Amino acid sequence: MTSARPPAPVTGWTSRGPLLRRLRLGISPARSEELPEYAIDPGREYAAGFARQALSTVASVVPIDPARLDVLDVGSGYGYTTAELARSCRTAVGIEPSADLYHAATRLRDELALPNLSFRHESVYELEDKSAYDLVVLDNVLEHLPDQNDALRRISGAMRPGAVLYILVPNKLWPIEPHYRLPFLGYLPISLANRVLRWTRRGTDYTAASYAPTYGSLRRMLAKRPELQFRFVLPADISLAQKGSSLLYRGGVRAIAAWPVLWWISKALLVVAVKKSDG
Ligand SMILES: C[S@@+](CC[C@H](N)C(=O)[O-])C[C@H]1O[C@@H](n2cnc3c(N)ncnc32)[C@H](O)[C@@H]1O
Repeated sequence: MTSARPPAPVTGWTSRGPLLRRLRLGISPARSEELPEYAIDPGREYAAGFARQALSTVASVVPIDPARLDVLDVGSGYGYTTAELARSCRTAVGIEPSADLYHAATRLRDELALPNLSFRHESVYELEDKSAYDLVVLDNVLEHLPDQNDALRRISGAMRPGAVLYILVPNKLWPIEPHYRLPFLGYLPISLANRVLRWTRRGTDYTAASYAPTYGSLRRMLAKRPELQFRFVLPADISLAQKGSSLLYRGGVRAIAAWPVLWWISKALLVVAVKKSDG
């Protein structure tokens, strides 16, 4: 399948020149060191679709009433999706380790003045909240986390019994690397990938975007958390997905539905996990 997102790049975050990034973010060069190399403004106009896709995909697995959900958006970036989640849910909290992105998100919060929306300048590795959320969203973030087991342990601890985790992540085995749009970049050892990035002038260091899982590795990692019951799912609303109207996309989704083995080579992996009531 292709990404579960609306019409935008699979992650919405691709590498462009630093100047363009600064212009789009409106930040001074002095602070831009805090901005990840792969980060670019994904476009506020798509966020409502991302949020709807997350809520409707979760609802396709477990009944939810968004108005009763306290939501945590891990790696909230510019905060657009968190803000859209706040419009439908009881509360929405975004955590984001990049200072520049956190500041962009707080400016958005000030502009929107949504009382139930907040952001924290925090990495998932600092997450200490316990049984605080009904829904955790991990949207195109896992591929940036070197210690995914620790991240998942902390996220699970932050979930209430019965809470739901939504994971959307690029598949390592999809041949076109989504952040830099280079074929087979994700297949290369880091040192070679870094050289390719520099030769092609797409970037300098692939490390921070290099941790995308395969279908198998994501399954194995989730299986290590017995308190989470997980399922690979297809996006609930294909029309919200990138190229959702294309025949190729629709054919891909149908093919995965018929032959789940095709998850191995899908463009993105989509998981809904529920924390057991006694978990
Ligand atoms: C591709 S962006 C996705 C942003 C947002 N979730 C979205 O879909 O628009 C990846 C985000 O993960 C964040 N990130 C990277 N490492 C992280 C960590 N250790 N903890 C939390 N977020 C992290 C990055 O700063 C960035 O904002």
